[in-house]
Amino acid sequence: MKEKLIQRYSASERINHWIVAVCFVLLAVSGLAFFYPAFFWLTGIFGTPQLARILHPFIGVVMFLGFFIQFFRYWHHNILNREDVKWMKSVKEVLKGNEVGDIGRYNGGQKGMFWVMTLCLLALIGSGIIAWRPYFAIHFPIPVIRIALLVHSASAVALIASIIVHVYAALWVKGTIRAMVEGVVTHAWAKKHHPKWYREMTSKK
Ligand code: HEM
Repeated sequence: MKEKLIQRYSASERINHWIVAVCFVLLAVSGLAFFYPAFFWLTGIFGTPQLARILHPFIGVVMFLGFFIQFFRYWHHNILNREDVKWMKSVKEVLKGNEVGDIGRYNGGQKGMFWVMTLCLLALIGSGIIAWRPYFAIHFPIPVIRIALLVHSASAVALIASIIVHVYAALWVKGTIRAMVEGVVTHAWAKKHHPKWYREMTSKK
């Protein structure tokens, strides 16, 4: 029997997402290598520690620009409403596999994640630029650079923890990875996890 599918992401949205994701992995690995001596060997991800130090900030800019495009693509789908609050309050039920509320394109958890990612990315790019030697750091006093590095590390830890949850959820909810790999989801997936979005998509036809 032929599966009935709904388009969720276009090719350009998927390329955009995976560029951000690859940059994130490179940044997280090299960032942890700079942060903690026991992880120093991870600088090998770029061949040498020197190259890692040079490339990390440039890749950070690529990730920020990639996310910036995602932000303008999705912010209007991530405004919290009453149904999302209901979803968040019943998250235990959701974890048991019983969806709660009339969920649109994204659920309360995904929306919260979107805004946490946005805040982390803003904190990372702002603090990263202040601390970026030799180009920008020379324009700031040492105490400001120290605060920037603290903000940079704290927001990096928050983003890494958030992305672990993002990836776990993407793998755990069967059929979700396919949305970002092939761009499509099944009718059953949409009906179960995003019923309001499903009605919008099917009534358009
Ligand atoms: C590293 C591995 C990653 C995997 C496996 C992954 C997987 C996914 C999947 C499957 C979706 C589709 C969810 C749905 O449509 O219901 C998605 C959406 C999304 N992902 Fe990722 N992702 C990863 C990393 C990242 C990173 C690093 C970021 C940004 C910092 C990111 C930002 C987003 C955004 C903004 C969306 C749209 C969701 C929304 O607007 O609420 N992802 N991801």
